[in-house]
Amino acid sequence: MTAASAGPEWARRRTYAIISHPDAGKTTLTETLLLEAGAIRLAGQVRARGQNRRTRSDWMKIERERGISVSASVMTYDYRGLLFNLLDTPGHEDFSEDTYRTLTAADCAIMVLDAAKGVEPRTLKLVEVCRLRDIPIITFINKMDREAMEVTDLLDDIQDKLALDAAPMQWPCGSGQRFRGVADLKRDSFILYRRPGADDEETEPSERFDLTSNSITSALSAEELNEVREGAEVARELCAPFIDQSFREGHLTPVYFGSALRRFGVRELLDAIAEIAPGPQPQAASGPSDALEPGGKEVAGFVFKVQANMDPNHRDRVAFVRLVSGAFRRGMKLKTDSGKQLTVANPILFFASDREIADEAFAGDVMGVPNHGVLRVGDTLSESGKWRVSGIPNFAPEILRRARLKDPLKAKHLKKALESLAEEGVTQLFRLQTGGEFVIGAVGALQIDVMAQRVADEYGIEVVFEPCPFETARWIRGDAAKLDAFIDRHKTAIAEDIDGALVFLAKSAWEVSYSQEKWPDVTFDTTRERA
Ligand code: G4P
Repeated sequence: MTAASAGPEWARRRTYAIISHPDAGKTTLTETLLLEAGAIRLAGQVRARGQNRRTRSDWMKIERERGISVSASVMTYDYRGLLFNLLDTPGHEDFSEDTYRTLTAADCAIMVLDAAKGVEPRTLKLVEVCRLRDIPIITFINKMDREAMEVTDLLDDIQDKLALDAAPMQWPCGSGQRFRGVADLKRDSFILYRRPGADDEETEPSERFDLTSNSITSALSAEELNEVREGAEVARELCAPFIDQSFREGHLTPVYFGSALRRFGVRELLDAIAEIAPGPQPQAASGPSDALEPGGKEVAGFVFKVQANMDPNHRDRVAFVRLVSGAFRRGMKLKTDSGKQLTVANPILFFASDREIADEAFAGDVMGVPNHGVLRVGDTLSESGKWRVSGIPNFAPEILRRARLKDPLKAKHLKKALESLAEEGVTQLFRLQTGGEFVIGAVGALQIDVMAQRVADEYGIEVVFEPCPFETARWIRGDAAKLDAFIDRHKTAIAEDIDGALVFLAKSAWEVSYSQEKWPDVTFDTTRERA
C-alpha cells in the first residue's frame, strides 16, 4: 500500500519525535515501530545502551575515525512509500535541553501515555514545548495489556491537563487480563488482540473483523461485543470528533490504544502517521522573506543539536541539521547566518539499519554535519547565508549550579571551557553581574556531571559545580527605566547569558510569579532566541 509515491521528494518526509514520561514505553515503542516497518529485524537494537550501544556503532567509519557517537539521534526508514525520520528525544537521566530542542525539528509528535497513569509531569512539560510551534500530537495509550484507567478518564485527563481535545480513533475492549483488542471507529471494524503464549517470541499479525458482520461473534462474546458497541456509541456521542485542521493546528489529538511490548496497535499507529501526520511545513524565518518553503529553491536548514566528540583528543563535533528548504547535494557550500562558510563534504544520513554518507537530502531530512566547532545550536545554514530561522530557543534551566574552581588562577581557562561547552547547547552559562561568578544551568541533572567531567578531561581544569541559592532563571526585558529599577532591586540575582542577554536568577518558581506580579512592566521569558 502506498500513501504517497508521486510528487516532490520533500513531500514524502514525515519527521516526528516520541514524547513521554520515563517508563511509559518510549523505547519499546521506538523499537516496535522500527520492527513493524521492517527497518530492523532483531529486537533489542534500539535498546542497546551504554557500552553496548557504543560497540555496536563502532563500525561506523566516521565514529571510528573521530570518536563521535551519533547513534540513534535520528532514525530514517521507509514506510508505505514515505520516508519517516524519527528523532530521538532523550529521556530518563539523559534528559536535557536537547530533548526540548529536538521538538523544534519535528513536524509531529507521538505522545505515549501509560494506560494506568495517564498524563504524567514530564509529558506535560514536553507538550508545553510542542505548543511553542503548535506541532500536531498523536496520542498512543500504551500498556493496554495491563490494568488500565477507564477510557473516558484517560480522555478527560488529556483534555484537562493538556487542554487538548482528545478524539478517540479507536475504542479498547477491556484491559489487562481482559484486554481483547480495539474497535477501529472509522472503519467500523475490530482488531483482535491475541495474547502471546509464554514462549512466543513474536505476536502474530492481528486479525481484523467487520463489526457489522456475523463473523465478529467468533472473536468476541456477546458481553464483549456489547462493551465495544457501547464504547463506540460513547465515542460518537460524547467525544470530540477528529478534525484534521484542529489536529494540524495543535488543538486536538487523535487517540490510539495498544501495547508496544506485545506489538499490538503499532501498525495502526504507523498507518496513522502515514495518513494524518503532516509533512514538512513552511518554516518561519527572517531574510529575503518571512518563511522558508519546503519546496523552495534555496537549500536552508538549522542546527538543533550539536554532539561533541567522545574522544578528548579531537575537537570535532557533529551538528544535526534539519533541512527546511531546497534539495541538498553533497559538496555544497553553505553559509551560516553569521557569515561563516562551510563545504558540506561528508554529511551523514541515519537509516535505521545503516548510516550513510548523504549524496542528497530534502526538506524534512536531518543530516549530521561533521565540523570543527564552527556550527552552534540555533545556527541557520543556507546557500546565500541570508536566512535566519526563528523558533529555536534556549529554554529556562531547571537546575542551576555555581562553578567553583579548585585553582583560582585558572579563571580565564574556565571561562573559555564553559563558553565553548555552552555553545554546544547542552548546558547554559550565566555570569553574575555582581562578583562575576559563573552559574551553569541545565534541564537534566546528568548534564551537570557531564559538564564537570568534560571540563576536567578536555581542558584539564578541576571544577566543582555546587548548589547555589538559585533554582530557576528567566530572561528579562522591558521598558529601560522599569528594567533598570528591577535590576537595581535585584543586583545579586542578575546575570548575563553567553550572548549578553539579561537573566534574572530566582530562588524558586514562587519568586518568579511574585516578581511577575510586582513588576508587571518587566517581561520574564522562559525561552529566548538568539538575536
Ligand atoms: P521509556 O523508554 O519510556 O522509559 O520506557 P521503556 O520502553 O523502557 O519501558 C518501560 C517499562 O515498561 C519496561 O519494563 C518495558 O518492558 C515496559 N513496557 C513498555 N511497553 C509495555 C507494554 O505495552 N506493556 C507492558 N506490560 N509493559 C510495557 P521494565 O521491566 O522496566 O524493563 P525491561 O526489563 O522489560 O527492559
